Amino acid sequence: MADSKKWVVMATAQTPTNIAVIKYWGKRDETLILPVNDSISVTLDPSHLCTTTTVAVSPGFEQDRMWLNGKEISLSGGRFQSCLREIRSRACDVEDKEKGIKIEKKDWEKLHVHIASYNNFPTAAGLASSAAGLACLVFSLAKLMNLKENPSQLSAIARQGSGSACRSLFGGFVKWIMGKDENGSDSLAVQLVEEEHWNELVIIIAVVSARQKETSSTSGMRESVETSLLLQHRAKEIVPKRMVKMEEAIKNRDFSSFAQLTCADSNQFHAVCLDTSPPIFYMNDTSHRIISYVEKWNRSEGSPQVAYTFDAGPNAVLIARNRQVAAQLLQRLLFFFPPNSDTDLNSYVLGDKSILHDAGIGDLKDVEALQCPPEITNVPAQKYTGEINNFICTKPGRGPVLLSDESKALLNPESGLPK
Ligand code: DP6
Repeated sequence: MADSKKWVVMATAQTPTNIAVIKYWGKRDETLILPVNDSISVTLDPSHLCTTTTVAVSPGFEQDRMWLNGKEISLSGGRFQSCLREIRSRACDVEDKEKGIKIEKKDWEKLHVHIASYNNFPTAAGLASSAAGLACLVFSLAKLMNLKENPSQLSAIARQGSGSACRSLFGGFVKWIMGKDENGSDSLAVQLVEEEHWNELVIIIAVVSARQKETSSTSGMRESVETSLLLQHRAKEIVPKRMVKMEEAIKNRDFSSFAQLTCADSNQFHAVCLDTSPPIFYMNDTSHRIISYVEKWNRSEGSPQVAYTFDAGPNAVLIARNRQVAAQLLQRLLFFFPPNSDTDLNSYVLGDKSILHDAGIGDLKDVEALQCPPEITNVPAQKYTGEINNFICTKPGRGPVLLSDESKALLNPESGLPK
C-alpha cells in the first residue's frame, strides 16, 4: 500500500428502486433477513427514482462515515455493519497505476471508508428509499473493493441491509428466491427478464398527501409473523402457486394475468396487515378510492388495463398496459384528484411528462376541462382536491450502473468529504 496519507480512491454508482408485485412480508430469520416466501418486483426507471452513492477509501480516514442527502448518519446499526463486514471479507487487490496506488486484499480490513448517498426523489414523498440505498451501498463498495462476486451474490449481501434491497441489483423483473439454507447463502435475487422485454408498460405513482405515522416494514412484518395465521397460509399455500403464474404472465407479457395477480397480491398483503394483532393500516381512504376507480374502469373495459399495488404506506403504484392507457389513466387521476389551485402542474406531475402531453393536458385549465370518465354512471362524481401530493410517471428500468464521470461524485476527490 502506498504510504502517503494523501490519496483517495473513489467509486460512484447509481441504483434503482423497485416495487414488488408479489410481496415480501415476513422473515424466518431476523438477523440474516431470510423471508418466509419468494417475491417478484419490477425495477423502476432510475432517471426518475434512484440513489446515487459515492464511496471512498483513504489511509487518511480515521473511521467509517456516511452522509445521506448531505447529513451525516450513523453507521453503527447492525445491518450496515453486516453489509460492510461481508463486503470487506470479499475485497480483492486494487491497483491504480496512474496514481501509483496499490491496495492489497489484506489492507482492506484496516482501511476506513466514506460513503455519501443521495436520492433523486424527495424523502418526504414516503417512497421506499432503503431498497435503492442499501443496494447502491453494496454495489458501489463492491466496485471500489474489486469484488469478484456476480450481481446475485451481491444481492445476498444487500439482502442483509434490507430485504427488498436485494431486488434492486437488477433491472427489469426480478425474483428474490427465499432459499432453504440456514446461513442464507441461497436466499438471493435473480433477473427474470430485462427491462426491454416488456417496455410497453408505464408506471404512475400517486404520492398520497395525508401521512399518518406509519409502522415500519421491519416491525410490521415481525408482528404479522407473530400473530397472523393468514400470513402462514399465504406463505405456504398461496405465494408458491402465485409465483409460478406470475413468472408465466411476465414471460408471456400477459397483462390480464399480470394485473389480476398483482392486485390480488397487494390486497392479500394488506389483508395480512389487518389480520395482524394489533391490526396495521397502511392504506387510507385515498388509497381505497384509487382501488375502486381502477377496479370499476377495468371491469367496464372487460379486461384489466391497469394494475395497482401498495407497499407499507398509502401511495399507489399503478401499472398501465401501455402509453395510451397511461394517458387515459392520468386523465382520470387528474379528474378525481386535481391539484390545489396554488399548485402548478409542472410540480404536480413529475417524471416522464410526455404522458401529460399524450393526455392532452398542457395546463390547469385542461385539468378543469376534464370530463367525468364514462364508467362512473350511477353516482355524481366527487373530486378530491389536495388528497394527492403529486404523481410520478415512470416505467420499468435498468439495474445499477457505475458512473465514471467524476463530476457526478458526491465526495471531494482530494478530501474524501461531501462536496
Ligand atoms: C411491503 O425490505 O423494507 O415493501 O427487510 O425489514 O428492511 P426489511 O423490510 P423491507 O420490506 C419491504 C416490504 C414491502 C414489500 C416488498 O417490497 O416486497
